Amino acid sequence: MKIFIDSTDPEEIRQAARLGCADGVTTNPTLIAKAGVDLEKTIRAIAEIVAGPVNAEVTATTCDGIVAEGERFHKWGDNVHVKIPLNQEGLLACKELADEGIRSTLTLVFSPAQAILAAAAGAAWICPFVGRLDDIAYEGMELIRSVSDIYRNDPDWNTQVLVASVRTPIHVIEAAQAGADGVTLPMSVIRQMSQHPLTDRGIAQFLADAVKKA
Ligand code: E4P
Repeated sequence: MKIFIDSTDPEEIRQAARLGCADGVTTNPTLIAKAGVDLEKTIRAIAEIVAGPVNAEVTATTCDGIVAEGERFHKWGDNVHVKIPLNQEGLLACKELADEGIRSTLTLVFSPAQAILAAAAGAAWICPFVGRLDDIAYEGMELIRSVSDIYRNDPDWNTQVLVASVRTPIHVIEAAQAGADGVTLPMSVIRQMSQHPLTDRGIAQFLADAVKKA
């Protein structure tokens, strides 16, 4: 399973890369706005750090607008993927971009039916959002299990599942168990995954014992 980092911060992305946790990068307009950065400069900088897919999300809402934005993003780096919200216009744009050889990630995916249309439109990846489904009392991971099964059943579909809206290490473990192709993680979740109180206690014990006289 590939591990992407969900971040717009080049420093954080470098740190994730040192941990082997930057097979790709996802951004979205909220992360860009929170960081107060310029999309083009940020995506160009990230695309030089990470060799894998770097996702820049469109804000156009019509097929023509999305395609124009996607063609512009594509010039920022060979590995830049166009992240497109999945609705009718997004699907039309994804198909047009795929026909031009430009890779897209369809995002804000909340149902297996949407995932089927994404595969038909030639999306390279989809981002099903588990945390936001959990927020409304639906088990988000059920969507991942279902979509992974559906894609496995048709070898002609090449769309990969990138689990998004990941809030806890449990989401990551369950995504791996479900056979997801990737997860995109905020740095906070990567940190949580590296920590265990018994590891800390064990280190303290070993260090204390190491300085004891024989
Ligand atoms: C990544 O592609 C998504 O935009 C991100 O994981 C959304 O996470 P959130 O639901 O915590 O905002």
